[in-house]
Amino acid sequence: MSFPNRRLRRLRKSQALRRLVAETRLSVDDLVAPLFVREGIDSPIPIPSLSGVQQHTRQSLVEEVKHLHSLGVPGVILFGIPEQKDPQGSEAWNPEGIVQLALQDCRDAIGQDMVLIADLCIDEYTDHGHCGVVGEDGSVDNDQTITIYGQISQAQARAGADIVAPSGMMDGQVRAIRDALDADNYQEVAILAYSAKYASGLYGPFRDAVDVTIADGGDRKTYQQDWRNGREALAEIRADEEEGADMIMVKPATPYLDIITEARKITDLPIAAYHVSGEYAMIKAAASQNLIDGDTVALEQLTAIKRAGADFILTYLTKEIAESL
Ligand code: PBG
Repeated sequence: MSFPNRRLRRLRKSQALRRLVAETRLSVDDLVAPLFVREGIDSPIPIPSLSGVQQHTRQSLVEEVKHLHSLGVPGVILFGIPEQKDPQGSEAWNPEGIVQLALQDCRDAIGQDMVLIADLCIDEYTDHGHCGVVGEDGSVDNDQTITIYGQISQAQARAGADIVAPSGMMDGQVRAIRDALDADNYQEVAILAYSAKYASGLYGPFRDAVDVTIADGGDRKTYQQDWRNGREALAEIRADEEEGADMIMVKPATPYLDIITEARKITDLPIAAYHVSGEYAMIKAAASQNLIDGDTVALEQLTAIKRAGADFILTYLTKEIAESL
C-alpha cells in the first residue's frame, strides 16, 4: 500500500540515510563547559549533587581547560567560590579574587585558543546569597547592584575574559556593564546576557556547587522570571539587545524550548541555552537507577535544544559529549 508518509519511512531506513537527512547536528563546537574554581583548597573537591563535576583548584582548573581544549571544546564559563563572603560580594571584583586569578591562569596556559567566559554575578560572593545588594527593607537594590556589576566587568576584562555573562537579572545591567567596559577601553569584550532566566527549581545542585544558601529561606522570584510567562522573556531579550548585549541566553533549557524558538524569531544575535545543574542531575540520577540510558537522553536533550533554535549550549555534559562525538 502507499501512504504519503511512506516517504518519511523510506528515509529512516538506515543509519547512513538518517545521517544524510538529519536537520539538526550537534557538534563539539556547540558546547561550553561550566567550571567551578574555589579559593583556598589544595585538591579538587567533587560536588556530590553534580556527579562528575568538581570544585577546582587553580591548578586543576588549568588542567581541565587544557583537556577540554584538546577535545575541541571552544569555550568555558567560570564560576568562583571565594573564601570570604560579605554583603557586597567584594571578592567578585578584587583583582586578586579567585576568578580573576583563574582567568589569568587560563589565558597564560592556553592563549586565544579557548573562549573564556566569566559569569558575572555576586551571589557566589555575598553572605546573604542574593544576586544583588540587599537594601534596608530587605529587598534587592537593583540600581546599586548594577554599578557593582560594572566594576566586576572591568576586573574580569582586565584579567582576560573574552566575554562577561551577567546572570543576576538586574534591570539595566547590560547597559551598565557596556558603559563600564567601554570607559575602561574594553570595547572588544563581549556581553553574553542571561536575558531570559527563570526562577527555576532546577538550580539546586548549582547552589551546592558554589556554597550558596539564600538568607532567611528567600528566593529569587522578584528578579528572575515567572515560569508561567513567555512574552516576558521576549521583552527581556529585546531590552538586553537594545542595551548592547552581543549574545543572549535562555535558562534553563529543556523546559523552555518554546522560549528558544520564539527568541530565534525576534533576534539575530547568537542564542545560548543553559542546560542547568538540575537538568544534568536528573539525567545522572535516573541513569544511575537504570531508569533511562543516560547517554542517549543526554544526546537527545542537547539535540532538542539545538533543534529549538539555540546556537550553543552551556552544559555540564560538555566533556563526556565531546569525548563521545
Ligand atoms: C547565578 C547563577 C545561577 C546559575 C548560574 N548563575 C543560580 C541562580 O540563579 O540561583 C545556575 C546554573 C545551574 O543551575 O547550573 N549567579
